[in-house]
This record gives sequence, structure tokens and C-alpha cells, in this order.
Amino acid sequence: MKEPTNSKVVIITGASSGIGAAVARRLARDGMHLTLAARRLDRLVQVAAEVEALGGEALIVQTDVRNRDEIEKMIQATLDRWGHIDVLLNNAGVGNDRPLIRTKPEKIRDQININLIAVIECAKAVLPTMLRQKSGHIINVASIAGLVALPGSTIYAATKFGVNGFSDALRRELRGSEIHVSAFCPGFTPTEINPELKAIADGKPGAPHRPGLMPVTYVADQIARLIRHPRRQMIIPPSWKILVIIAFLFPGIADKLIGFFISKETKGKE
Ligand SMILES: NC(=O)c1ccc[n+]([C@@H]2O[C@H](COP(=O)([O-])OP(=O)(O)OC[C@H]3O[C@@H](n4cnc5c(N)ncnc54)[C@H](OP(=O)(O)O)[C@@H]3O)[C@@H](O)[C@H]2O)c1
Repeated sequence: MKEPTNSKVVIITGASSGIGAAVARRLARDGMHLTLAARRLDRLVQVAAEVEALGGEALIVQTDVRNRDEIEKMIQATLDRWGHIDVLLNNAGVGNDRPLIRTKPEKIRDQININLIAVIECAKAVLPTMLRQKSGHIINVASIAGLVALPGSTIYAATKFGVNGFSDALRRELRGSEIHVSAFCPGFTPTEINPELKAIADGKPGAPHRPGLMPVTYVADQIARLIRHPRRQMIIPPSWKILVIIAFLFPGIADKLIGFFISKETKGKE
């Protein structure tokens, strides 16, 4: 059934797979107008065809979010097509699960560029339009790993904590401007970013246990809900908020819990 939403213009970075593609399919059902941005053109063409078939409209803008000119082009192409921008879903991201000692310096910079600097630059690039419109919603896809840092994901944690901090500061900076800023913090979701999670979701023998694994369609539904009802932060699955509270109030207990469940696997990868 169609949700009672008026058709919005939404830019989705990282729309070629995983959460971004699932959100595109979900919003298409509400007839939304979507700018699909990522590097893999063939995958964007595929997602755009699905969007059109589901009742949405899609504009493909091949974009590498590490390149500021390409970000500007993505914004301008959206304005040329639809004249305004309601939502920026700052979703493009990469993972790199390995201990810091084994992480190549160029991988560190690349991950920070994509997961943090590009999020800031996309938000900055869309702001003049939203301020002129006196409306808009910037949704930054962070992670529960941006609230509870996990071993074996040091750079990822640094970038996602950065996204949460950036979102808080920007929201406070824009207070009173009619522009919403949200941090979206999902837990484990089986997508291409983490082949282990896909293996679990596909029921591969020997795959490690990950509690709270969520289908990507559920995650997309929650982002659609966030677009309808903007709020400061959304953590899913909601039950994981308890871990966030423990990590904040009792970091020593969090060290022990995380060490028990995750460190063994991380050590195995060293
Ligand atoms: N899956 C999880 O468990 C999980 C949990 C918490 C948060 N997240 C976050 O959710 C977001 C989406 O990830 P996902 O799980 O859906 O993984 P995914 O399927 O690997 O999707 C990542 C997306 O980012 C795009 N991307 C990567 N580098 C880019 C670049 N330089 N320029 C433009 N686009 C780029 C990829 O497209 P191209 O390669 O085509 O450019 C792809 O569309 C990420 O920010 C991730 O950190 C995921």
C-alpha cells in the first residue's frame, strides 16, 4: 500500500548496492524523485530500472564522493531536473575490517575520505539550496559502530564517531533554520560492505554468529520512516540502545562484553 507522503526529491549517495539501493526501491513505492549516485554505472542503471518499475523517478549521476567537483555536479543535476532538494541521504561508505597494525596507510586515508570527509562535503554542498528553500533534511548514515567502538574496526569507528559528532554539531548550528539533520545508526545488515554478514544471512556453514542481523528491507523501511518523521538520531535495532548506554556509562563493562564476543575473532585475523 502507498504511504501518504507527498513526492519528495531525495539524493541517495551509495545507491548502487546494499542499503542505498534498498532505500531507492522503498522510496520508489511512494513515487519519490530520486537522484542515484555512486561509482558503478551498471549497478545504478539496474537500480534506476527497478525504481521506475516501482513508480518512482530516477536520475543517475555517476559520482565518486571523494571528488568535490562530482559532488557539485550531483547537486546541480538534481536541481536542473527537479528544481529543489528535500533530502540528502549521505549513505556512501566503505568498510575495512582488520587490526590497525595490518591496515595500509592508503586504506586509512581512503576510508576517512569516503566515510567522513565526503559526508561533510555533500552536506556542505547541499546547504545553500536548503537554506534558500528554507527546508530540507540531511540524513547521515553513521552506524552503531559510531556509538560503540569495536576492535578490528578502528578506522571505521573513527569515521562513524566522526559522522555522529558532525551530525550533532550541524544540527545545533542549523537550529531554527527549518533544516533537519539526522544521524542514522544501523547495526549489522547483510550487504556487500561485509562479506561475513552476507555469509551469515545466506546460511553459509561456519559463518560467525552476529546477534541482531537485520534484513536490508527493514533498514530501508526505517529510513523511509525517518524521512516522514525527522528526528535527531535513529538507532536500529532498538534493542541495541542498551549496549550504547552501557558503553557510555560503564565503558569498563563494555570492554569486557565486547572482548568476550568479538576480540577472539579479531585475534584470529591477525
Ligand atoms: N551493512 C551494515 O552492517 C552497516 C551497518 C552500519 C552502517 N552501515 C553503513 O551503511 C552505508 C551503506 O553501506 P552498505 O551496508 O549498504 O554497503 P554496500 O552495499 O557496500 O554499499 C556501499 C555503497 O557506497 C558506495 N560507495 C563506496 N565508495 C564510494 C565512493 N567513493 N563514491 C561514491 N559512492 C561510493 C558504493 O557504490 P560504488 O562502489 O558503486 O561507488 C555502494 O553503493 C555505509 O555508510 C555503511 O558504513 C552499514
